[in-house]
Amino acid sequence: MLRKLLPQSLVFHRRLSNAYVTSQLAAPSVASRLSSPFSTHSSSHNPDGPSIKQLDHVDDSQFPPTATTISIDRSGLYNPPEHSHEPALDSELVKHLKGIIKFRGGPISVAEYMEEVLTNPRAGFYINRDVFGAEGDFITSPEVSQMFGEMIGVWVMCLWEQMGQPQRVNLIELGPGRGTLVADLLRGASKFKKFIESLHVHLVECSPTLQKLQHQNLKCIDQDNAAESAERRTVSSLAGTPVSWHATLEQVPSGSPTIIIAHEFFDALPIHQFQKVSRGWCEKMVDVAEDSLFRFVLSSQPTPATLYLLKRFKWAANEEIAKLSQIEVCPKAMELTQTIAKRISSDGGGALIIDYGLNGVVSDSLQAIRKHKFVDILDNPGSADLSAYVDFASIRHSAEEASGDVSVHGPITQSQLIGSLGINFRVETLLQNCSDEQADSLKSGYWRLVGDGEAPFWEGPDDSVPIGMGTRYLAMAIVNKKQGVPVPFQ
Ligand SMILES: C[S@@+](CC[C@H](N)C(=O)[O-])C[C@H]1O[C@@H](n2cnc3c(N)ncnc32)[C@H](O)[C@@H]1O
Repeated sequence: MLRKLLPQSLVFHRRLSNAYVTSQLAAPSVASRLSSPFSTHSSSHNPDGPSIKQLDHVDDSQFPPTATTISIDRSGLYNPPEHSHEPALDSELVKHLKGIIKFRGGPISVAEYMEEVLTNPRAGFYINRDVFGAEGDFITSPEVSQMFGEMIGVWVMCLWEQMGQPQRVNLIELGPGRGTLVADLLRGASKFKKFIESLHVHLVECSPTLQKLQHQNLKCIDQDNAAESAERRTVSSLAGTPVSWHATLEQVPSGSPTIIIAHEFFDALPIHQFQKVSRGWCEKMVDVAEDSLFRFVLSSQPTPATLYLLKRFKWAANEEIAKLSQIEVCPKAMELTQTIAKRISSDGGGALIIDYGLNGVVSDSLQAIRKHKFVDILDNPGSADLSAYVDFASIRHSAEEASGDVSVHGPITQSQLIGSLGINFRVETLLQNCSDEQADSLKSGYWRLVGDGEAPFWEGPDDSVPIGMGTRYLAMAIVNKKQGVPVPFQ
């Protein structure tokens, strides 16, 4: 297997130093780790580590030149923030936030702060720019390798089979970023005509800039007869699939079997933070200090979000709560899960949620990333991404509470998910016919997606070795019970 993945000529790629190559070849664990995505090997945890990003789609007939970039994913939390002390004029968003706090006559919740920072319609982090990749702020799995979207395509196709191959399916992606996942899914599945012809792609995206990028990356064509044919206004020329955009899931028309993908969407939903002090659990709030900088304060009395804290307590064991002094709750995630569960319950189908998180109560995970570096959460809001660990246990409870017609499966690790869906076979097929540079990129991307340790083909200082996303990202499925247990959650 190792030899198949690693022809000798590729091992001695020019980017690898001799010492590095020697040490890698001498280490048998690398072979076993690369050949199995289910490795439990754990190496030094380095959340800042860069990854190699595959920029060009590889198939059996096209071999465009590839390029590599350095970037980080957002799952490595608990990093010491880097704080900027440089004085700066207040941005439009900072003025807006200060205005809310002033006119409200008191601090706002972390959730309100997070929501404004990420999705304020004028100046939110996601609204006016492409935040992904080397020029952006962080990297996500679809941007690491085309194989990620292809594997999600396999999952979608398997579910479609289990659904009895319906002639019309709403394939919904929540928060599609650049649209890379769906583009790779459509390309990968384009030969399966019956499946492809059943799809209507619906993208739920709040950012006009990213909507344009999605339109571009899906190679969309706007039909001339848009007025008469509202349903099929825009078509992706990647597979001839109709594509529509919506601001919320509720706006996607219901009534057809539905498959929903949420990759790194839940982590962007606003969370409330609570802290245990002598007088009990208090909500952490954002205020403006006398020096005009943002600061955290604790609420002096119960806040509306306390209801969600109590709800979360009900779903947890006493021992789980007793050991925590901080807790995050995400009402938006609970509500969205209920909407998903109800939709799947009435229309049939299922949802796949992939994100970094825990299968239990999340304590203190909110983080800010700007230009691939962890920064202070309150520093220059709107210029850095904010995200938090996803509480998968809470998603399970919310779905089960919303409908008795759905079943919840997982979470399993990303490595288990895409390993079982066949990424090993895919990488081997792609490696059979590609340039050295593409092979290097494919192997790094593969490792990044399934591994939980350092990538074996990265040359660089120890502290910038990329780490895998394979075990830190989790996958959970919510499906209509009629569909049975989805692949590979059996
Ligand atoms: C972390 S990015 C993930 C992008 C993509 N799924 C990926 O993995 O590359 C979050 C995405 O969700 C979108 N988004 C965030 N909050 C949203 C909201 N409340 N409504 C709609 N879209 C939102 C962002 O604009 C962005 O496209």
